[in-house]
Amino acid sequence: MNLVVFVLSLATFATKSAAIGQPASLGFTETAGGLKLSSSGSAPTIVIDSKDWAGVVRAGNDLASDFGLVTGTKGKVVTSTSGLSNAPVIIVGTIGKSPLIDSLVVSTKLDVSAIKGKWESFTSQLIEDPVDGIKSALVLAGSDKRGTIYAIYDVSEQIGVSPWYWWADVPPKKKTDIYALPMKKSQGPPSIKYRGIFLNDEQPALTNWVNANYGGKYDSRFHAKVFELLLRLRANYFWPAMWNSKFYVDDSKNGPLADEMGIVMGTSHTEPMARADKEKTKPWDWKSNQNNLKKYMQDGLNRAKGWETLWTVGMRGDGDTGSPTLDAKSLVDVINYQQSILKSTLGLSNLSSVPQMWCVYKEVGGYYQDGMKIPDDVTILWSDDNSGNIQRLPIPSEVNREGGAGIYYHFDYVGDPRNYKWINTIQLSKTWEQMHLAWQRAASEIWIVNVGDLKPLEIPISHFLDMAYNMDKFTSPASTDSWLEAWATREFGSGVATGTAEAMSTYGKLIVRRKYELLDKTPFMLSTVNYDEAENVLNEWASLQNRTQALYDTLDTATQTAFFEMVLHPIMAGRIVQQVYINAARNSAYASQKRMSTNKLADDVKAAYAQDGVIQKRYHGLSNGKWNHMMDQVHFGYNNWQDPGSNSMPSVKTIATTAPSTGMLGVSVQNNAASSPGDAAPTLSGMDPFTPENRTIDIYARGSGSMDFTVASSVSYVKITPSTGTVSYPSGTSDIRATILVDWASAPTGSSTVSITVTPKTGTAVKLDLPLNNVAVPADFKGYVESNGAVAMEMQHLTSRTSGADGTSLEVIPNYGRTDSGLTLLPSTATSQTTTSGPKAVYSFYAFTSSANAKVTVYMPPSFNINPSSPLKFAVALDQTTPTSTSPVPSAILGAMPGGWSDAVINGARVVTANIGKVDPGKHELSLWLLEPGTVVHRLVIDLGGVKSSYLGPPESTKLGF
Ligand SMILES: *[C@@H]1O[C@H](CO)[C@@H](O)[C@H](O)[C@H]1NC(C)=O
Ligand SMILES: *[C@@H]1O[C@H](CO)[C@@H](O)[C@H](O)[C@H]1NC(C)=O
Ligand SMILES: *[C@@H]1O[C@H](CO)[C@@H](O)[C@H](O)[C@H]1NC(C)=O
Repeated sequence: MNLVVFVLSLATFATKSAAIGQPASLGFTETAGGLKLSSSGSAPTIVIDSKDWAGVVRAGNDLASDFGLVTGTKGKVVTSTSGLSNAPVIIVGTIGKSPLIDSLVVSTKLDVSAIKGKWESFTSQLIEDPVDGIKSALVLAGSDKRGTIYAIYDVSEQIGVSPWYWWADVPPKKKTDIYALPMKKSQGPPSIKYRGIFLNDEQPALTNWVNANYGGKYDSRFHAKVFELLLRLRANYFWPAMWNSKFYVDDSKNGPLADEMGIVMGTSHTEPMARADKEKTKPWDWKSNQNNLKKYMQDGLNRAKGWETLWTVGMRGDGDTGSPTLDAKSLVDVINYQQSILKSTLGLSNLSSVPQMWCVYKEVGGYYQDGMKIPDDVTILWSDDNSGNIQRLPIPSEVNREGGAGIYYHFDYVGDPRNYKWINTIQLSKTWEQMHLAWQRAASEIWIVNVGDLKPLEIPISHFLDMAYNMDKFTSPASTDSWLEAWATREFGSGVATGTAEAMSTYGKLIVRRKYELLDKTPFMLSTVNYDEAENVLNEWASLQNRTQALYDTLDTATQTAFFEMVLHPIMAGRIVQQVYINAARNSAYASQKRMSTNKLADDVKAAYAQDGVIQKRYHGLSNGKWNHMMDQVHFGYNNWQDPGSNSMPSVKTIATTAPSTGMLGVSVQNNAASSPGDAAPTLSGMDPFTPENRTIDIYARGSGSMDFTVASSVSYVKITPSTGTVSYPSGTSDIRATILVDWASAPTGSSTVSITVTPKTGTAVKLDLPLNNVAVPADFKGYVESNGAVAMEMQHLTSRTSGADGTSLEVIPNYGRTDSGLTLLPSTATSQTTTSGPKAVYSFYAFTSSANAKVTVYMPPSFNINPSSPLKFAVALDQTTPTSTSPVPSAILGAMPGGWSDAVINGARVVTANIGKVDPGKHELSLWLLEPGTVVHRLVIDLGGVKSSYLGPPESTKLGF
């Protein structure tokens, strides 16, 4: 089932030449019936009627240049077809606005039935004899201004100019010949009506960059670049930067430019009626200063009324906070006033044609919860929790509102629990899961996402806007990986597409564990003792960087720059921050074991911290300094939500080189902090044929000098490699890790204990006990196998599942969550399910340990109860026992965060425990039901008494039969 879905969705996004996810209308080899548009030395003439929109002409000029970028010969734009008989021609225009297009419709040469009257739709057709003297032309017709503009940029994208050609230096893909295929295609309307980005939290990076490049203002030259990017990404909506800028005032050309290019302007939730926060009349208080506030709002309306605007209504307090004097009743007065001036100023009897938005952000939710009535023609913009978890979606009584609903989402934030505004920290599969839920649950009027400085968030922005344009292509939970491949093909070529998709989906899992700014919370989250967790995580980062560097090395120099900006840099820079914190934590743990390598780790932390500066410099030097300042954000040394003034390195310890009186050679083992001799020799964690991790012994120097040792077991079927060695400090190898190998065919059946002795040339030997458990499972068993009292299961490895009586199912979301995958209930419109008729997934496991009162730890994302009267819910049951259900998220009033929210957001997981009763040795089935849409489970860990504390849980158990 999953395999089929995955293959289908790969086809969905297949891009040889097509724009991502869209049908191809151009080709690059001669095709019967096709029209040669361009080759080196020849370029098409683009005909746009002089009566068409200025924004269409502007995009047409971009297309003419784009042909030049690809073939070396620029196209040209003309206003009429006369005298064009020999040139390849592209006729472009808007229905009802371009007499040329309208005449083709009248002559029935152009069929616009699929798009006429629709929002932002277009058709692309190769037409014979469109007008006298022209044998054949590619005709691009839009249902409206943006429909035509998207048709134009669709050609740009197909010929090889990425929407990110300027903003991320993606090199145009050179072509010898370009043909229009003999075919007809139509696109649109988009899934989400208003789709856009919010530039926010724009100091220091973007503002310093704007200061250096645009003379200190977010001016119309800057915005022209942003708007072109948005249109190429098929977006249409924009909230301007507002920390210290005033869009309409900073440059009087900003407002008209947006309108001309085809961008619908909005303002943030805290800026009503197209006015900037920094323009606010003070005191900003509806109760005491109402007349001035009314004038302020009317002035905003007067200023922007001639331009396409999505009006933000309502109000909040001053400076992005709640207002102390506002309540539900006075907020209704504010909105009534805003609607009354919209009607009177625009000369309308009703506002059904005027888009308006009211954002339920933070404290505003409380008013709505109090029963506030919001006019039906206003779109309710639901918000996430600033960390990517949507708080609320339309409930049944809200789905048929005239104004509909939308989502305000975050890829960047300043505030609780901690700012995240440095580099990309977005897990795309999570964005998919949340936005797919929003789409299925009727929040499809507006999607706007806070993108901070824009620049380091290219991939999440592309993904979000591609979904918003055509969510029908994203119905499969496996869509994220196939989208990534298509995206990487477009930006870097098919040679690295699979590798890039794998790298970014792995990056998503590593980064969702904790944002960089939160890594210095104490105590450090990863265990430096149990399961080798800290080291394993660092190795995951190192190995990801190695794989990504290898991809980079295969690319040509120009493509390397783009690849670095969007893929290699976040992995490389992120890995260095992880290395600093993980090795600082390991340094501290090693210091208490008196390992001389404590000092090496201290040096490593200092070197890695310095390397962070080198990576920043490298980014700032790209393309001759084009992106200088974009990495100005402080990202080390946070101790509260707000960023510190400058980076600082975590403290590290060093130890003196005199050996402890208990001896120079020290021994430590996994899952135990002891250092022996000195501390009592620990018992090794047990081994059985199914133990998923290697069992090792660390032998190390605790002083200066050199020491030979041997390590040997008491039996022939347990071998240790290496069995001899020399540790030395400061030169040579200070730490040696020996691995224990067991020949299970020769080991006695059942439980036994062997001893392993580490003997230094001089000094005290350390004798360690190793418990063995030589067990077997039936040959036909399929599922997970317990080891050391723990069974850790990843969601995709279910043994079986059954659909719900109503056709609902539990589906795997690949690469979602901190370790592997997620399981969710689909469709997202499902009603509440029960354990008798709902869909079920079964995870089989085989136990050797009996436990009177076993528990299962359920790892979930930090999601909200999107419908407060049907809170998220799951149930588990062991074998045929009665299921126990859990609603993991406490109820909370709208706008307030539910109990446990902070920990869940910081940890990237809500961790819940359920009892499953008595487990006897043998085969078992753990059944899982997800009883409400939006419920996702990432991991199940059964504790039969052996689970040790760690952040991610034990490593995945051995599984058989998969
Ligand atoms: C709103 O006004 C338009 C004309 O401006 C009219 O066609 C439409 O019927 C009105 N809608 C309602 C719900 O009154
Ligand atoms: C990564 O590559 C470096 C240099 O080639 C190598 O030393 C290191 O062992 C590799 N690390 C991993 C985890 O693959
Ligand atoms: C265990 O050791 C083997 C052999 O050295 C190695 O290939 C494997 O990657 C190790 N596994 C883990 C989980 O470290």
